[in-house]
Amino acid sequence: MSPSLITVSYLGAAALFILALGGLSTNDTARRGNLFGIIGMIIAVVVTIAAFVTQHHEVLIGIMIVGGVIGFVLSRRVQMTQMPELVAILHSLVGLAAVLIGFANFMDPTIQYTGVEKTIHEIEVYIGIAIGALTFTGSVIAYGKLSGMIGGQPMLLPARHWLNLAMFIGVMVIAVEFVGTVDHDRAVLLLLAMTVIALLFGIHMVAAIGGADMPVVISMLNSYSGWAAAATGFMLSNDLLIVTGALVGSSGAILSYIMCRAMNRHFISVIAGGFGTSGGSSAGASIEGEVQTIDIPAMADLLNGAKEIMVVPGYGMATAQAQHAIAEITKTLINKGINVRFGIHPVAGRMPGHMNVLLAEAKVPYDIVFEMDEINDDFPDIDVSIVVGANDTVNPLAQEDADSPIAGMPVLEVWKGKTTVVLKRGMAAGYAGVDNPLFVKENTRMLFGDAKQTLDALAQAI
Ligand code: TAP
Repeated sequence: MSPSLITVSYLGAAALFILALGGLSTNDTARRGNLFGIIGMIIAVVVTIAAFVTQHHEVLIGIMIVGGVIGFVLSRRVQMTQMPELVAILHSLVGLAAVLIGFANFMDPTIQYTGVEKTIHEIEVYIGIAIGALTFTGSVIAYGKLSGMIGGQPMLLPARHWLNLAMFIGVMVIAVEFVGTVDHDRAVLLLLAMTVIALLFGIHMVAAIGGADMPVVISMLNSYSGWAAAATGFMLSNDLLIVTGALVGSSGAILSYIMCRAMNRHFISVIAGGFGTSGGSSAGASIEGEVQTIDIPAMADLLNGAKEIMVVPGYGMATAQAQHAIAEITKTLINKGINVRFGIHPVAGRMPGHMNVLLAEAKVPYDIVFEMDEINDDFPDIDVSIVVGANDTVNPLAQEDADSPIAGMPVLEVWKGKTTVVLKRGMAAGYAGVDNPLFVKENTRMLFGDAKQTLDALAQAI
């Protein structure tokens, strides 16, 4: 394949990736954005294989078929609720690939650089492996936390900040040694030592993060996986990998910033860990009051008598797969002349945009779905708020208890409306492990049960 054809194809693929990101920024254009991304990736893979100089294309293609089949089967099997875990484990694979490629590249006897080029290449290898290693273990721990295999509580070692600092200094000192040495075997050992530290750093960094701050970590690992890919692109002198990695890295960084703002957190504080440590009222000791329940017929009357309704979905809607049932109820109520809107918290569910994806799947019109900032001041005018499996994102303790693990996180102020009905199975706490005084407020009614079953029954009753 001629170098100019490769360059043109890579440019085309890079342009398609940029169009994909642009398309994914709104619901209306998301499908088109996905299509651009798929076409761009097909071009990238085909051209890279065709351009790859090897005697053994059959090995390459064989490995790709095995990987492709595993990916296809797993993605088809994965439930919508397991998407965040899938994303986390895919990030870990990007990190692992960066580490393996880095070592393979550094130990390849056919790759010989001298002078400044050698130093630059070593720095590229070092950075690629370092980011890849911490992305790998960090994402594996994130996978464990998201899937429930590891508890959501932060793991806090006594001198954790010193430990982080020591690991950072260790990586920097080894970097200087690594670039300075002319002994190749010693350089490999130094690279191995740094990799072990980076692997431990990834574990420690994510393990120390409290449950409610996981959204920031996920977007941050997404960003790291992009930078690891970009560093690998420099190492392999592959322009497309550099561009794609930089796109993923920077969009992940922007998402991390948005998540931090949504949760009222400072990025550095989240990374350093320790949020959600104070315990405070997380055990729920401060929650006193009587739980008032409501049944389906009474709830149906309440909805039929309302003029303004706000639906606030959360992770429970995803686990119950209740989006179609709430979409049907919404349609019926709108046909009766009732104004129904959806209020979406930026970190509702387990991945950015989780609720929007589910509501789009159930064909809820985009123009009645609002971000928290757009509708949070409207609650005093709301007759009924229907909280479908949301918990942390509607917890007033975030505003009331400075010791709470979720203190300072903006929440949807449903309690300011006339009546709030909470659909959940019991009195369990949300992801952050904090009990919720909303459930005992005077204007709150609890409708216990699986959200889908409850909403199916409600759809009949209204
Ligand atoms: P959560 O606080 O996670 O609460 C979900 C509630 O749904 C639970 O209290 C549970 O109570 C209920 N539930 C579970 N299954 C149900 C079912 N089948 N039917 C009815 N209810 C059910 O939800 P949220 O308000 O969406 O908050 C999200 C949390 O996850 C935040 O703390 C956020 O920081 C964190 N998080 C978010 C992300 C992203 S990027 N969005 C990533 C990682 C973590 P019962 O068991 O009593 O039913």
